[in-house]
Amino acid sequence: MESDLKSLKIKAQKEIEKSDNLKELNQIFKKYLGKRGELSLILRSLAKMSAKKRKKIGKEANELKRFLKAKIEKKMKKMRLIGAPTEEAGWIDITVPGEKPALGHLHPLTQVKREAMLIFQEMGFEVVEGPEIESEWYNFDALNIPKDHPARDEWNSLWVKSEGKKLLLRTHTSPVQIRYMEKHNPPLRIIVPGDCFRAEATDASHEFQFAHIEGLMVDKEISVANFKAVIKTFFQRFFKKPVKVLLKPDFFPFTEPSFEVDITCLACGGKGCKACQKTGFMEIMGAGMVHPAVFKICGLNPKNWQGFAFGIGWDRLAMMRYKIDDIRLLRSGDLRFLQQF
Ligand code: DAH
Repeated sequence: MESDLKSLKIKAQKEIEKSDNLKELNQIFKKYLGKRGELSLILRSLAKMSAKKRKKIGKEANELKRFLKAKIEKKMKKMRLIGAPTEEAGWIDITVPGEKPALGHLHPLTQVKREAMLIFQEMGFEVVEGPEIESEWYNFDALNIPKDHPARDEWNSLWVKSEGKKLLLRTHTSPVQIRYMEKHNPPLRIIVPGDCFRAEATDASHEFQFAHIEGLMVDKEISVANFKAVIKTFFQRFFKKPVKVLLKPDFFPFTEPSFEVDITCLACGGKGCKACQKTGFMEIMGAGMVHPAVFKICGLNPKNWQGFAFGIGWDRLAMMRYKIDDIRLLRSGDLRFLQQF
């Protein structure tokens, strides 16, 4: 029996020394000192021994129990100190550098919007928003686009199933001009960022969901010269370099005269690419002088007020800023694309 105790001590000691994780140490504890542990069984068998033997073996066995318990606990304590977190996890090397959580950032469209808003705000424009589901009245009629007017075909609309009023996903942000002028008297200067939707076949420069930044300035004496000054200032501040601005005659029912505004295509620097259909210029906005009929609809006398309005293609602004040659990338949700900004 004595030799049993001796060999048990040697065996247990070796195992404790070799063990390098808390889980294993727990198992060693169970193996020797648990309910059915090897040493526990010896201690239980003491009852059957002669008094003399019991005294001697009992003393030695109890000493060994204290010894092993202390040894295991000491090693466990040391292991916890150096960072073995749970009994299941076992050994971990706390000197390994931690993994950094991936940091997110603003979508390029949001970055562009914030910057554009700031520039217009510095020029005295107030940021205003409007609903994405719009009534036929605000999206078309109030903008001087009558029901059967062929100009409506330009805005391939996505209609919403609705009872009563005809509703659609707004095809442009221009309805917010009406909503604002109904409630506010001039002089006024507003800038309206927002998503627009059209049933479009998509290509490198067209998407069915895109964003516009609408602008409107109304006062006693506003002319095309004011418009040019405002947008030139905007582009200069936004792109931080001189950009050629081209005003071409165009037609919008809510402005007279109307223009298409093109700028040097910055995706290719004017050389020609798929974003600008190889022209070197990119159509970036529609604009014009507010039509007298629109003033009338909003309860304003066109004899007293003049104004300009414009709608900038916000996605196109981002494309020019970041040299992106396909609009569809912006809303693709592809992280490999987004992580570049
Ligand atoms: N709403 C027009 C479009 O969807 C863009 C536009 C043109 C906005 C002329 C205006 C404007 O405010 O005056 O293409």
